[in-house]
Amino acid sequence: MGQTVVLKTVGKVSLLEIDNPPVNAISRAVVEGLDAALREYETSGTLGLVICATGRTFVAGGDIADFESPDFSASAFNDILLRIENGDRPVVAAVHGTVLGGGLELAMACHHRISTQDCRFGMPEIKLGLIPGSHGTQRLPRLVGLRQAAEMMMRGSMVGAVDALDFGLVDDLVSPEKLRDAAIDAFTKLAADPIRRTSAQSISDDGADALAGLEKLAAKRSSEAAFAALSGALIAARDLPFEQGIDMEAQLFDRLVTSAQSKAQRYLFFAERGAARVPGVDAVSVRKIETVGVLGVGTMGAGIAVAALLAGYLVTISEADDELLQAGVGRINATLDGLVKKGRLTEGQHQKCRTMLHKGVGPAALSDVDIVIEAVFEDMDLKRRVAAELGKYCKPGAIIATNTSTLDVNEIARASGRPEDVVGTHFFSPAHIMKLLEVVRGNATATEVLAATLKFARRIEKTVVVSGVCYGFIGNRMAEVYMRENEAMQLEGATPAEIDAVAQDPDLWGMAMGPNRMLDMAGVDVGARTVIEWMASGDGPTDPAYRILCRRMFEAGLHGQKTGKGYYLYEGRSASPNPAVHALATQLAKDFNFTRSAPPSRQEIFERLLFPLINEAAHILDEKIAARASDIDVVWTSGYGFPKWRGGPLWMADDIGLGKIVERLEFYDARADNNWNISPLLRKLAASGDRLSSVG
Ligand code: COA
Repeated sequence: MGQTVVLKTVGKVSLLEIDNPPVNAISRAVVEGLDAALREYETSGTLGLVICATGRTFVAGGDIADFESPDFSASAFNDILLRIENGDRPVVAAVHGTVLGGGLELAMACHHRISTQDCRFGMPEIKLGLIPGSHGTQRLPRLVGLRQAAEMMMRGSMVGAVDALDFGLVDDLVSPEKLRDAAIDAFTKLAADPIRRTSAQSISDDGADALAGLEKLAAKRSSEAAFAALSGALIAARDLPFEQGIDMEAQLFDRLVTSAQSKAQRYLFFAERGAARVPGVDAVSVRKIETVGVLGVGTMGAGIAVAALLAGYLVTISEADDELLQAGVGRINATLDGLVKKGRLTEGQHQKCRTMLHKGVGPAALSDVDIVIEAVFEDMDLKRRVAAELGKYCKPGAIIATNTSTLDVNEIARASGRPEDVVGTHFFSPAHIMKLLEVVRGNATATEVLAATLKFARRIEKTVVVSGVCYGFIGNRMAEVYMRENEAMQLEGATPAEIDAVAQDPDLWGMAMGPNRMLDMAGVDVGARTVIEWMASGDGPTDPAYRILCRRMFEAGLHGQKTGKGYYLYEGRSASPNPAVHALATQLAKDFNFTRSAPPSRQEIFERLLFPLINEAAHILDEKIAARASDIDVVWTSGYGFPKWRGGPLWMADDIGLGKIVERLEFYDARADNNWNISPLLRKLAASGDRLSSVG
């Protein structure tokens, strides 16, 4: 028997314990251990078997790393599940932590399930481009009904223990310390009852309403896994005997596990976790962060304060005067109220957040907190002034985080007088919802300051990526070339809607929003101001035609959704093309001598949006602004609506072929007046055949 699985006898019952840290994933060794333990149990004369796990959680799924192996197969684990279910003595699952994927499938193969009250359950395979492959698609609907099973499989989110009891997924809830005793005690009753096998149960509903509703979700996400779940596995569960259902599931799973979509999503799973690991940072002692200050409580500051409150931090907010402070408190309360209305926060949690919030006027109010995040307006003079004040008022050892999307963190750090305490944070709005946080490491940022900020970022549940200092950091520096081509193509005759349609087309790409819809949402004024400031700084482009469309739209008050007019016209939530933008682009094309015989084709639009992004990313890697290519893919998939099932721009570049990308970049470079500045790294990798997404 492998060390990952241990079989004991406790009184008259056998107890099988899985011990495979950190999350007890089902690896090959665990499958072998289960097999050996079951063999031993099968020859024992005990009343039955308890299956449980050590450490922080019951099994949280199959070992995702194993899926990459060319000879990966779920069949050995699946045979074990059939053996468990078909055995002639009761088997009880005693579960805690996060019972996910293969863990839930294991629990469902048992005859009785006891859970701790704080346990959570889920089928997250959809997030990896998969369906459950160990009978989960067939057993889950038999336990909770087709509608609930479809919801869980399609959304991939977790349900709590109380809901799980309500749905029939578990039979009893106990406190964590009573879990094992309760499981052992359960045999007194179970011995008297006939064995209840999940596979023999019938499904309580046809789930028609849920299946129809979720089809739309599947189409929107262009997820092959969602289609396989909805139109294959769940229909099989409803219409076919269990044995045929599991055959169908196996066929679908085997196809999906080798699909491009799933490979991309599995790559991102590890990329997201790897991004938070920075060489040399793990080993240092971390400065403690227990109290958080937020200076400037506009939309961004309020969102940051809410994120910190939700994570249980004591938060002090500060504004320049009392009126602004009250407005900030209003924003925070409105956000918290909204979360209660949506059912994401209980009334009790809401009240707790309110008691954790303190407020004051001016930087002196923040003199006692462990980290201050300043979220004042994006203006270098103001940021420098604020940094100097914080440098003076913050207690020794406090971290000063400057929230900026493009500005030079080194300059702000110098202004503070204590640059080792300063770090950049680039939150995305709304900050309590958006997953991505770029943490910007200045030249002087102390390692323990970076380490503490990363820990803080994890606690407020952000996907964190570390960037070096440059204009726009990783995300916005790349977005700049994307927007540059977007606007240049409009001067060459493409409409905003045509461009967005190409970016959003799942057969070509599948961005959540095209560049023009994105600018309208973020604010054309915000985008334009950044460009204007960059050009004025002397470091930016000198071409007077550079992003002239967005700058003129800003002057004309076409600021996007907030003014009801931008690249599109807005009425409520519906958007229609704004003819004035195309007319303005046509006029600007004349004024700036843009000549093209025909507007760009769909293929050209695709290449001119995506390939400069990839090229810029290669420069970012070469300059060590990003430590790893996968960090860049995390930035774009977590913060910019790049489809996860394409893995990110660099993973997608490898799929397209670097040679082809370089060839097309050379073509556009030769044709254009401006310099496309093709990355030497990209050329080198194209020549060597190495993968761009593996750099770092
Ligand atoms: N297979 C392999 N490794 C896994 C894993 C899995 N199913 N689930 C988690 N891990 C690893 C992570 O890569 C991470 O490793 P690292 O410390 O070397 O980076 C470690 O376990 C902890 O995971 P992390 O996500 O950082 O911890 P968390 O406490 O925030 O979340 C879970 C824990 C279980 C909720 C989360 O890891 C998760 O959702 N896992 C995926 C579950 C899943 O998809 N199961 C179905 C697989 S088909």
